[in-house]
Amino acid sequence: MGEVPRVEVDGLWRSFDGERVVDDVSLSISAGQLTCLLGPSGCGKSTTLRMIAGVDRPDGGTIRLDGEVICDPVGSLPPEDRSVGLMFQDFALFPHLDVAGNVAFGLNGARSARRSRVRDLLDRVEMGRHIDAYPHELSGGEQQRVALARALAPKPRVMLMDEPFSGLDNRLRDEIRDQTLDLLKEEGTAVLLVTHEPDEAMRMADEIALMRGGRIVQRGVPYNIYNAPVDRDAAAFFSDINVIEGRVQGALTETAFGQFLAPGVPDGTMVDIVIRPQHLKIDFDRKGRGPLPTPAEGTAARGIVQRARFMGGESLVDFRMEFDGSKLVASVPSVFLPEAGTPLWLMIRRDRCFVFPRKGSESDDASTERSANS
Ligand SMILES: Nc1ncnc2c1ncn2[C@@H]1O[C@H](COP(=O)(O)OP(=O)(O)O)[C@@H](O)[C@H]1O
Ligand SMILES: [Mg+2]
Repeated sequence: MGEVPRVEVDGLWRSFDGERVVDDVSLSISAGQLTCLLGPSGCGKSTTLRMIAGVDRPDGGTIRLDGEVICDPVGSLPPEDRSVGLMFQDFALFPHLDVAGNVAFGLNGARSARRSRVRDLLDRVEMGRHIDAYPHELSGGEQQRVALARALAPKPRVMLMDEPFSGLDNRLRDEIRDQTLDLLKEEGTAVLLVTHEPDEAMRMADEIALMRGGRIVQRGVPYNIYNAPVDRDAAAFFSDINVIEGRVQGALTETAFGQFLAPGVPDGTMVDIVIRPQHLKIDFDRKGRGPLPTPAEGTAARGIVQRARFMGGESLVDFRMEFDGSKLVASVPSVFLPEAGTPLWLMIRRDRCFVFPRKGSESDDASTERSANS
């Protein structure tokens, strides 16, 4: 490609009271691309964003905008000179200015050009008819849309958004997310959106950077982050997970669900076989006999339904497994709602499960953290 990224962050770190809350973070975002910085509360997302915005100073690392260094150990460009648009959860509009005044606030240039930019943006967020309204006359969602128009009005090279939707109620949120995404794409700005919600990240992001304890542990398109997590915690961040234990012998681990590949994992290492609830396959009990699974499904194991809950689009079924009394949860289409006490057979889809050496187990080796079982 050879194209210079719009934003390039390299080896950024920041410590408070001797503790690194942002630790060697590197990122790059192209114009027109939306990257989500996703991670649990307190992992360092906002601190990262604040350093890119220029309102906090890193202890080390470099930030470039269109190839030009705007922050390094030697110097730092002030926030107002970075061409960065900001949007936060408490995105307070100026209460004494009407909608047009708010959106025009950061605009320079000829009056007519400013007016047409304001009108155009407000139309695109469907707020054109509220152009003369004051913030207190608007609902939360409407204020949010005005705030987006205000942030985009000066055509920032980068939009930095910190949990911008978390103040909105659920049903409104998806609509505003989609509208925001459309507008950001049309404007072609580079976007870094901070969120702790995996659903939001998957809905919005071209790329997700998964953060934990100040570090980015995985980067990739949503599909890959979800379907090829780097470790058990990365898998668990996106959904409930089931974990089946095994011990490796000859690059294989033997379980009640059959054998699983564990390439490169030394003998004796304990592994976690991780599978999401929707990737367990379920079949009926035929007078005590199970189905004959295909090789891709391994061996079926029998469990007794403990509880089944109708969730609208799916049913959540809790099982007590007969082989060791362990609990597994399956998510199945909601046409299926078995009664407690029903015996059923479960299979693990090999192409959908992940095998990770257990943390703290002997011979923990980063190069063997993941293995494909396809
Ligand atoms: N100005 C500060 N002084 C001291 N500690 C801070 C400061 N800002 C953030 N922290 C700490 O840094 C860690 C990361 O915070 P933050 O970046 O806000 O996380 P996130 O946005 O992922 O929830 C937290 O433990 C937080 O308490
Ligand atoms: Mg935060």
